[in-house]
Amino acid sequence: MIKIAPSFLSADFARAGEEVKLITEAGADYIHLDVMDGSFVKNMSFGPKFIKEIRNYSKAVFDSHLMIVNPWKYIENFADAGSDFITVHYEACGDRLKDTLKAIKSLGVKCGAVINPDTPVSAIKNVIEECDMLLLMSVFPGFGGQKFIESVVPKIEEARKLIISTGKDIDLEIDGGITKENVKIVKDAGANVIVAGSTIYKEADRSAVIKYLREN
Ligand code: DX5
Ligand code: ZN
Repeated sequence: MIKIAPSFLSADFARAGEEVKLITEAGADYIHLDVMDGSFVKNMSFGPKFIKEIRNYSKAVFDSHLMIVNPWKYIENFADAGSDFITVHYEACGDRLKDTLKAIKSLGVKCGAVINPDTPVSAIKNVIEECDMLLLMSVFPGFGGQKFIESVVPKIEEARKLIISTGKDIDLEIDGGITKENVKIVKDAGANVIVAGSTIYKEADRSAVIKYLREN
């Protein structure tokens, strides 16, 4: 089943509660929450306090994408904030990835591994059994509104095969530069959770664009 995950990075933070309520009513399955620390990526966004406060305005699945260094130090804060999923980068965790995923799960939160466009799928092969989600970046993380990197498409196919080989129901999420024009390509390759920031928020009728991304 296809799930649409609007990236809250493109929302109006001055009206955050109302924005998360409206995007949920418009049909968002997951609310994709881009957490940036100005160190792992060259941008800053928001932290657990912000997530905890908007949590009161939506019953959608909260999908916290941590673009931070030493993510294991903060997973309790993001679990406590009401995250349903916490995803952490292979590039930030290195050989601590498996332990970090286990620590997320031990808090009763679903976990996922994320890889950048230039990291091969083989890098996370040894942690697939721990994952509830794999997140493939189709832009280099840090900013919304970037152009989709097409060379990621074969990685989606490879990641889907890896997921099938486990026999488990693991989400395959794609994040960055998704538009009405390329959404079919990533779905056909095997992605089932579609993150979209600028494509959704630039349109006045967000419910229509969410529906389009789900059905086309
Ligand atoms: C990039 C973030 C993405 C981004 C998506 O660092 O992880 O979630 O905000 O935005 P669009 O869909 O505009 O590329
Ligand atoms: Zn993201």
